[in-house]
Amino acid sequence: TRPLKVALLGCGVVGSQVARLMTTHADDLAARVGAPVELAGIAVRRAGRSREGVPGELVTTDALGLVTREDVDVVVEVIGGIEPARSLLAAAFEAGASVVTANKALLAEDGPTLHAFAEKHQADLYFEAAVAAAIPLVRPLRESLAGDKVNRVLGIVNGTTNFILDRMESTGASYGEALAEATALGYAEADPTADVEGFDAASKAAILAGIAFHSRVRLEDVHREGITEVTAGDIASARRMGCTVKLLAICERAADGRSVTARVHPAMIPLSHPLASVREAYNAVFVEAESAGRLMFYGPGAGGAPTASAVLGDVVAACRNKLGGARGPGESAYAQLPVSPMGRV
Ligand code: HSE
Repeated sequence: TRPLKVALLGCGVVGSQVARLMTTHADDLAARVGAPVELAGIAVRRAGRSREGVPGELVTTDALGLVTREDVDVVVEVIGGIEPARSLLAAAFEAGASVVTANKALLAEDGPTLHAFAEKHQADLYFEAAVAAAIPLVRPLRESLAGDKVNRVLGIVNGTTNFILDRMESTGASYGEALAEATALGYAEADPTADVEGFDAASKAAILAGIAFHSRVRLEDVHREGITEVTAGDIASARRMGCTVKLLAICERAADGRSVTARVHPAMIPLSHPLASVREAYNAVFVEAESAGRLMFYGPGAGGAPTASAVLGDVVAACRNKLGGARGPGESAYAQLPVSPMGRV
């Protein structure tokens, strides 16, 4: 069988882990896919830097040249941000590749365009790594629960802010100290504004609401409030009331079923609630569905290796489909429920 070729866009915290796992786990990947899976190249912004565990001969600064190579089957995008990611993925689909992306900002801003490209070229668009790293959430919502009716998705979807709030509460660290520690551990985005102002969680809420309610929900539809105004005093008074403070993402179908809402804001949670025991950079999400009932998904929601794990799972799925001439789930935005600005609290 011919080897499947994967082009990797980005070699930062996540990309370098993807490259490492693809090399060290090559035999396992080949066994799961049914053919060898090889890295075709790794596109970086600046050449010349030595990257541990990354095969130097594969590194290129010509991302467009890489994604449009005829032999590339799957393009993995872990650059983040809107451009050049969007143009590169458009070119990848045009060239016949399937796409695996961790890019929540792009999906929340312009997911329908990516889905339309995938549809037009009969290719796959997988994005498990865009929400809560390796915690399976995207695949359960798109596939496992496809026969059910999801009414609510609620939880902690940003590891950095959970880490900061947890550190402030448990060690009395200041906001700045806790943020510096989260950044040093590789949880925070390059620009931590995305985390602390709630944009990252809001993008994830938009993606989750979209796939849960078969609607198109964009970042701008999500009510958003971050944690920058949360003080040590707030956390102490919550504690006196038997509560803790968490940044929650809440996506709901309206009681009459005619609209959906998505919001992100700090909330007081009783210490007896399962979400109160979510510590450090962990994430936890409840999914409530008509027949399945209440499901809880829990685990490390950020970091290079956990995110790379989600990427690799998608790479296996996309490669298998390529090999078998099959396709994964497409966009399911058939319900198109209006997104109301703010739901009931
Ligand atoms: N900065 C994000 C977080 C990374 O802290 O959750 C994972 O998306």
